[in-house]
Amino acid sequence: MSEPFVNLKRSHLCGELRVQDIAEKVCVMGWVHSRRDHGGLIFVDLRDRSGLLQVAFNPEASQAALDKAHSLRSEYVIAVKGTVAHRPEGTVNPELPTGEIEVLAEELMVLNEAHTPPFEITDRIEASESIRLKYRFLDLRRPSIQKNFIIRHHLYQVTRNFFSAKGFLEVETPFLTKSTPEGARDYLVPSRIEQGRFYALPQSPQLFKQILMLAGFDRYFQIVKCFRDEDLRADRQPEFTQIDLELSFVDEEDIYEILESYLKILFKEILAEDIDIPFPRLTYQEAMDRFGVDNPDTRFALELQDITSIVKQSAFKVFSQAIEKGGVVKGLVVKDAAEFSRKDLDDLVEVAKTYGAGGLVWIRITPDGWQSPVAKFLTDQEKTEIATCLETGPGDLLLIVADPQWTTVCTALGNVRLHLIKKLQLKPSQAFKFTWVTKFPLLEYSPEEKRWVAVHHPFTSPVEEDITLLETDPGKVRARAYDLVLNGSEIGGGSIRIHRQTVQSKMFTLLGIGDEEAGMKFGFLLDALRYGAPPHGGLALGLDRLVMLITGENSIRDIIAFPKTQKAACLMSNAPSPVDPKQLRELHIKTR
Ligand code: AMO
Ligand code: AMP
Repeated sequence: MSEPFVNLKRSHLCGELRVQDIAEKVCVMGWVHSRRDHGGLIFVDLRDRSGLLQVAFNPEASQAALDKAHSLRSEYVIAVKGTVAHRPEGTVNPELPTGEIEVLAEELMVLNEAHTPPFEITDRIEASESIRLKYRFLDLRRPSIQKNFIIRHHLYQVTRNFFSAKGFLEVETPFLTKSTPEGARDYLVPSRIEQGRFYALPQSPQLFKQILMLAGFDRYFQIVKCFRDEDLRADRQPEFTQIDLELSFVDEEDIYEILESYLKILFKEILAEDIDIPFPRLTYQEAMDRFGVDNPDTRFALELQDITSIVKQSAFKVFSQAIEKGGVVKGLVVKDAAEFSRKDLDDLVEVAKTYGAGGLVWIRITPDGWQSPVAKFLTDQEKTEIATCLETGPGDLLLIVADPQWTTVCTALGNVRLHLIKKLQLKPSQAFKFTWVTKFPLLEYSPEEKRWVAVHHPFTSPVEEDITLLETDPGKVRARAYDLVLNGSEIGGGSIRIHRQTVQSKMFTLLGIGDEEAGMKFGFLLDALRYGAPPHGGLALGLDRLVMLITGENSIRDIIAFPKTQKAACLMSNAPSPVDPKQLRELHIKTR
């Protein structure tokens, strides 16, 4: 039976009591984490957000409290009045911050009972993720999860303080808005008042933050929810949080510098970690050439190398024909991996094929020569040149991909590289490695849509000297866009924007967005550009991904309080769910 919560005042949090508090009269409250019954003596580990505290019920302190303690079960909510005492000799628990003391209970109040939880509230949890998400209110009681949210909270504070001190204004932008093109599908909200019209939840505040620059706000930031209906992965959620920034009268260097000093302070304050600034920079071209992906994990030395010039005339047609068609051939040397089994090698070939390559040549370099299905096609001179160029020797495994498309070669071999890093459990060179990836292509051709599409978004400025290529060779135009990569994860992206209306119109024409469509979709931005737009640019950091890396979690769901599953469902609230037909009628909606 629970008792009313009257005339009770908590004096301390469970986790904060120490030896200095001995003999103090205290009143603590929390959840029964565990109960150990020794007949005439009962111990309860009492839990609140601050930690665990041992409460001892014994007849000397209070027989009444001891009697009552027999009814306690896991997760009951209780209040205990008592005296702090040293734990008896031999029972000190060095694992717990409160391990030297206990509270001798003089009074016990049961504030609420609890059903037996479907899983134990412990960090050594074995329950499946779906059970954990269904009972998220219990899952969130686990200390390691709470620690993540304490870090996340801390991160908000450091962020607000930093940007505020640097002259950024925090401005809220609307959620009920128009679609912004960030490349994902929109979540739509039907209008009740205007039949057949819809708001879109923002994929980002992109247009609004640019408008704020045109309005003279100079520097804007916001910790803001964004909504994207896209296929979900371990590092993606349909609603996620950005630290969104925009600045006027700046170029790339200003933005790099601000971000670097912010992250330096953040990592110092939260992890006491000294990160190196400035961050190294790679152009998109270099990142792809050396690591095969545009979000390279540069903590691992393994790099792709070009052998096109060596195998140009090769008798192995896969190589020479790819080159003839304008392609490249690249290799990757894996030290001490010549012992890989046939199955291991087949797996690597599969990875390469999954990422678009026609296949993958493997060569085991042994003291007796090259072992490979294609070794017979390679001349001794080719072998010597490859071995010299790639600095390879006996014991190594050599992997080669050829394709008429440079991107296919890079992507396939880059993903083979990532697969190997995991498989071989290679040791990273440092805990946190940031890299800027710059000068992305501005446009990419979409074969499905049969038109050019913006790689970042259509407001991104082309590199000045490439502007003339816009009409002649759009695929070659580089963007003033940059991504921030941490340990191989894209944690942020941004660009210097187009601030001249003429360039923006040209861009829309190129993207096949007609005047009418442009006017309908972002007319307000185009209009605004006519009224004195300052040069401006910005960036958005993925806050969730950043917290995930800082806390060392593998899933974005462990650092979001109420996350969604891969199917974008909330297992706790059961969203999305059917609605009342009356609601649909009001919204002028009929479902099929
Ligand atoms: P972008 O689309 O690159 O840029 O997004 C910025 C950062 O947000 C994070 N992110 C996500 N995190 C979790 N779940 C998702 N579904 C998800 N999608 C993106 C990533 C990414 O780097 N308006 C531009 C920014 C700008 O140009 O200023 C934008 O939104 O870490
Ligand atoms: P095939 O000509 O398909 O029998 O392939 C001969 C060998 O070359 C096999 O080991 C394939 O995995 C490999 N291979 C095929 N296409 C490529 C490619 N584009 N790049 C590298 N190796 C390839």
